[in-house]
Amino acid sequence: MTVKHKLLQSARLPAALESRLAQAYDVHLLWAESDPLRFLEAQGHGFDTLVTTATVGASKDLICALPALRVISSFGVGLDKLDLETARRRGVAVGYTPDVLNECVADTAFALLMDVVRRVSEADRFVRRGEWRNGPFPLSTRVSGKRIGIVGMGRIGRVIAKRSLGFTMPVRYYSRRPALDVPYERMASLVALAEWADFLVVATAGGPEARHLINAGVLDALGQRGYLINIARGTVIDEVALVDALVSGRIAGAGLDVYENEPQVPEALLGLDNVVLLPHVASSTEETRKAMGDLVLDNLQSFFSRGYVQASALE
Ligand code: DGY
Repeated sequence: MTVKHKLLQSARLPAALESRLAQAYDVHLLWAESDPLRFLEAQGHGFDTLVTTATVGASKDLICALPALRVISSFGVGLDKLDLETARRRGVAVGYTPDVLNECVADTAFALLMDVVRRVSEADRFVRRGEWRNGPFPLSTRVSGKRIGIVGMGRIGRVIAKRSLGFTMPVRYYSRRPALDVPYERMASLVALAEWADFLVVATAGGPEARHLINAGVLDALGQRGYLINIARGTVIDEVALVDALVSGRIAGAGLDVYENEPQVPEALLGLDNVVLLPHVASSTEETRKAMGDLVLDNLQSFFSRGYVQASALE
């Protein structure tokens, strides 16, 4: 009889993935523990495998509480909540789920953009309230042909750029390092990109280096006719500055999938019609969540059969 690896699951996962994990591993649900710290103190030494998500991640404390840990497999592409340095130092392999979600996240960026700029949700509310009977809905703003500035030209930024070409939008971008294999112009600064763009789409990785990259100065450069879309991480934007810019009309509107303190959404945004708010669902389609789940399992299987995870976050 083969002994199953002891796997600690620190976050809720789609039911289908949970049952596949439970078939192949000896799973314990840390998220269901009433006192996780006490559990870790008593039982943490027994686990060689940790499965988590991009939003829950794995802190230094958690990794250190699992002395036998050999591999982490994370459901998601974001690495901002995973302490990669501690994992590297401890010799723990880290797998994640890049690429398989690019298309859906880019679709969501466009859903938000179309919605807020063409006032789709606002017009829907107008119809439901019965206001159409009193007169026509006000004009919105054209999307096609407008200038799109992309912050971060990584895997997802590139797919957003590809979508933009279908809308005949001139594309420019800003990222710390130039993306040498793309045909789009890289602007010298974020402020220069925001000044040029009609729509500024944030698609950069989160983490301390990107914290508050979009600040009041960038929002002022985007200006009264500019729209901001964020499908990256809430922490990339100074949320207080964003709320202020939206409330005072210093930018035209925003489409947001992510927030600084999820699931908290700033109260001031809830009553604004020039904002579309999503609950961090950019990759949440049946197809993409299935592909992410497959990769979580493949990463573990590849680690235990060949000694390395298929998609490593440590490279
Ligand atoms: C990701 O994969 O990082 C998504 O944002 C879900 O957290």
